[in-house]
Parts: sequence; structure tokens; C-alpha cells
Amino acid sequence: MLEAILLVGGQGTRLRPLTISTPKPMLPVAGYACTDHQIALAKKAGVGRIVMGTSYRAEVFEEHFGHGEKVGVELVYAVEDEPLGTGGAIRNAAAHLTCGPNDPVVVFNGDVLTGLDIAGLVQKWRDADADVALYLTRVEDPRAYGLVPTDANGRVLEFLEKPTTLEEIVTDQINAGCYIFKRSVIDSIPSDRPVSVERETFPELLAADRMVIGVVDDGYWLDLGTPLAFAKGSADLVRGIAPSPLLTGRTGESLIEPTAKVDSSASITGGTYIGHNAIVGAGAVIDRSVIFADVEVGSGTKITNSIVSTAAKISSDCTIVDTVIAERAQINAGANLEPGTLVFPDESVN
Ligand code: GDD
Ligand code: MG
Repeated sequence: MLEAILLVGGQGTRLRPLTISTPKPMLPVAGYACTDHQIALAKKAGVGRIVMGTSYRAEVFEEHFGHGEKVGVELVYAVEDEPLGTGGAIRNAAAHLTCGPNDPVVVFNGDVLTGLDIAGLVQKWRDADADVALYLTRVEDPRAYGLVPTDANGRVLEFLEKPTTLEEIVTDQINAGCYIFKRSVIDSIPSDRPVSVERETFPELLAADRMVIGVVDDGYWLDLGTPLAFAKGSADLVRGIAPSPLLTGRTGESLIEPTAKVDSSASITGGTYIGHNAIVGAGAVIDRSVIFADVEVGSGTKITNSIVSTAAKISSDCTIVDTVIAERAQINAGANLEPGTLVFPDESVN
């Protein structure tokens, strides 16, 4: 049985204030936590057991998923009292693995939306007799990611995490946040301190001439780490542009939970998601947005490219563009929110 480690312990700083109470991987994208989409993808590839590497708000995961009874994959938790970094988290989670030293372990960043063929990546790891296989994708501007140049045979030449100089921008291939590790490689990561897999483990493996391969896949990929990306990821899922085993047969211009009450004169477009028990008034126009459960949107209000968290109340005739509204916030009638506005939990805005 294939085992995996899911890294879900980051603070989600760039998604504040949404992540004050909810860790990033648990925020709903098209109605499911990113973690739900990832578990479904892993299950499809034959993963039967996942160790969740948690730290920030660790309890939220266990409350939601338990031991995986509902998702059909066995889940266990490796909780870090102090965040151990990505490499430290992988090492810490390894204590809960049951596989042997030469077996493959799938490792996933918790905020990545993808349809990656995980089983295919494991096969490439096997074929190359690799220590680590990295899933790579190509992006226009690689600066915010780990750059991973490879040679003609796919062997990784360097790992340059978030380069700061122009000379370091040597490729458009980036680390897409999913790896296949040989178990024994994980066991050699130091266990007594924080370690970054990107800044320390990968460069050390390369310096020691270990077999690290990169597999470029040009299928759908998105890091959900910023509000803009989060709204795009949700809309892409709703419209069927991003794949997820959880949404098969339910994609379209919008995804509205059956318990939501949306006035028939409201316009809901662009892959907007409307959560459980939300209420949307007459003539409201909601485009490319994510509306969490229990939200109220007044009549005539226009919301574009925004995220509205649980139980926020937006009165009538407001204009809201590129905005993040945290839980239970209140937006008063006629408000016009500038793009980039962040509204905090329980805040009231005119
Ligand atoms: N358990 C645990 N402990 N998890 C952590 C910790 C920690 O101390 N720090 C980060 N994580 C988790 C986060 O929750 C997230 O799921 C994942 O590790 C990656 O962290 P991010 O904060 O999202 O990193 P990033 O997006 O800036 O960069 C990473 O992902 C890019 C692709 O999306 C790097 O791996 C880059 O190389 C990569 O290109
Ligand atoms: Mg990220």
C-alpha cells in the first residue's frame, strides 16, 4: 500500500485574515477543503494511508477528518509543537510511516491544486531508480517558487528556492510541490531542528550527487497561497478547468449549494461558489467569487473576484471588487470597497 505525507502546517500568512481561525488547506475551494481535493486525488492513485504534518491550528484537521473514515483513506497526525519547516515536518511525519527503507513515499504541499497523475510519478521514480522525483510545472514568472533546472535526461541540476537575483532565473521550470521520496532519504533528514526541504535537503542531495529527477507536467497546476489565486482556483474548479474527483458531473458557470437561497433575479457567474445556507438578494450580481456558508448578500450588491467568509453580512447596493472579507464581518449599505481591501473578523465597514 502506498503511503503519503501531506504538509499542512504553514501559517497561511498571505491569506490573512481568512487564515486567522482556519488553516489555509482547510479553506473551502469550490465547497471542499483543498485537503479534501488532494486526498481524493491521492486515493485515486492508490494511496491508502496519509500522515498529516500539522502545526498551525492542528486541531482543525483532526476535527474535520478524524482518522479518515469518511474519505476512505487512513489518516494519522504528526503534530509539531513548534513549526519544523517543510523538511522537518517530513522527517517528523516519517515516524508514523509503516513502509520499508526502499519504498516510495508521496509528499504533497497542502495548498496545491492539480490533477497530477501521482501513480505515473511513482513509476518514473522507479524507472530512474531515483532517491527523489520532483513534480515540476512551467510558469511565466518563476520568482515566487523553487526553480528547478534539469538536464536532457530529466536529472535535476540545481534547486534555487525563491531567487533574489536575476542571474538565478535560469529556467521557467518550478517545483510544483509534490515529491516521491525513497523512505531512507527522509530518515536521513535531521530530526532535532527545523529544516527547509527546499533550501537545505534538496541542495544537499544534489551536492552529494544523489539521483534526483524532475518530471515536468503541463496539466493544471495552481498554488492557492494568495487571495487572487484562491479565488481563481475555486472558480477554475467550479467551471471544470481545474480537475477534481470530487466535482465530476457538477461543473458549470456557478456552484450553488442546495441549502442556499438565491433570488431568481440575481446573476451568479464566472465560476462563483455559493455555500450552505447563504442568502443572496434580488438583483445581486456575483462574478468569479467564493461565498462561504451562512453569508448574506443584500439586494443590488455587486461582488467581483472576492472571497466572503462564513456568516459575513453584506447589505444592499454595495460594490465589492478584489476584496477579502473575513468571518462575521458586516458591510453596511451602499459601501464601495477599494480593490485589495481586507476586512477582519467581526469588523463593521461603511
Ligand atoms: N507541517 C508543516 N510545518 N508544514 C509546513 C511548514 C511547517 O513548519 N511550513 C510550511 N508548511 C506547509 C504549508 O502548509 C504548505 O502546505 C507547504 O508546506 C508549502 O508552504 P508554502 O508556505 O505554501 O510555500 P510556498 O508556496 O511559498 O513555496 C513552496 O511551494 C511552491 C509551489 O507551490 C515551495 O515548495 C516552492 O519550492 C514551490 O515552488
Ligand atoms: Mg504555497
